[in-house]
Amino acid sequence: TTPLRLGIAGLGTVGAGTIRLLRANADLIRARAGRPLEVVAVSARDRNRDRGVDLSGLNWHDRAEDLVNDPDVDVVVELIGGSEGTARTVVENALKAGKPVVTANKALLALHGPSLARLSAAHNAPLLFEAAVAGGIPAIKTVREGLAADRLTRVGGILNGTCNYILTVMRETGQAFASVLKDAQELGYAEADPSTDIDGLDAAHKLTILAGLAFGRPVDFSSVHVEGIRHVDAADQNFARALGYSIKLLGLARMTENGLHARVTPCLVPQQSPLAQVNGVFNAVVAEGEFVGRIMIEGRGAGAGPTASAVTADLIDIARGQTMPVWGVQADDGADTVLRAQPIT
Ligand code: HSE
Repeated sequence: TTPLRLGIAGLGTVGAGTIRLLRANADLIRARAGRPLEVVAVSARDRNRDRGVDLSGLNWHDRAEDLVNDPDVDVVVELIGGSEGTARTVVENALKAGKPVVTANKALLALHGPSLARLSAAHNAPLLFEAAVAGGIPAIKTVREGLAADRLTRVGGILNGTCNYILTVMRETGQAFASVLKDAQELGYAEADPSTDIDGLDAAHKLTILAGLAFGRPVDFSSVHVEGIRHVDAADQNFARALGYSIKLLGLARMTENGLHARVTPCLVPQQSPLAQVNGVFNAVVAEGEFVGRIMIEGRGAGAGPTASAVTADLIDIARGQTMPVWGVQADDGADTVLRAQPIT
């Protein structure tokens, strides 16, 4: 059988982790995909950095744009990040060339989801992004496919591993915000610019994507209300604990008679509730539907291993030819109209 040939753009924590996983689990991946998945090309800014994986024999591209045009590449894996610039160009050009794309880029999907969905449909090129929301948790698949039969009323959860890690360690050890943030960066959880994490934008990107899937129409990111955790201090933690609560950064979207409500804010969560038990880098995705009731799934929301697991699951879907439209519904069924969240009153 012919291998599916992969080009990986971006060799940071996730890129290197994905190559490692593809190699370590090559046999089981081949069995599940029905054909081997083979990395043939990579691109990154710095050729010489040691990434702990053997890159010899691969096509090297200094520019990610050139990787897209590499005739050996069947599928483009975009792990550069950022909603503009190279990442956006790479994804758009790959789709225009009819090449399937797998990305972990939540900012890109949250800000340009509608136009990317149109490109994907027009060129019959799947665009998969399981790794964009909640790391290793199969959140996209669960909401888009597992709950496809239900009318969802709520979706969201603990969507940023860095913030949850910081809040957990601050609560448990009384350490200051800045030193815990440094740990999260060293563990490879934080974004290149960690303000994206701690000011709530990253969680808002993920909430925008989840809400789009839950309600079958892309959500306007700029309408989502966002507050981060920069101002949560040791005194807040102590009061919360004394009153029987945990402080969690929650992203929640609700569909009501008056329209969509979507917000990311630090919340007091009762200590006995399931969300309060989700600690450290763990994320949780909750959803509620008329028939299914309430569900919650929990797992590691950041880091090389969990994110590589989600990227590779998407690649297996592509190899098997089993992919879904971006918002889970066809464009003529409303996927082309954008939903705005109600302003906070
Ligand atoms: N910086 C993100 C987080 C990585 O901490 O959750 C995963 O999207």
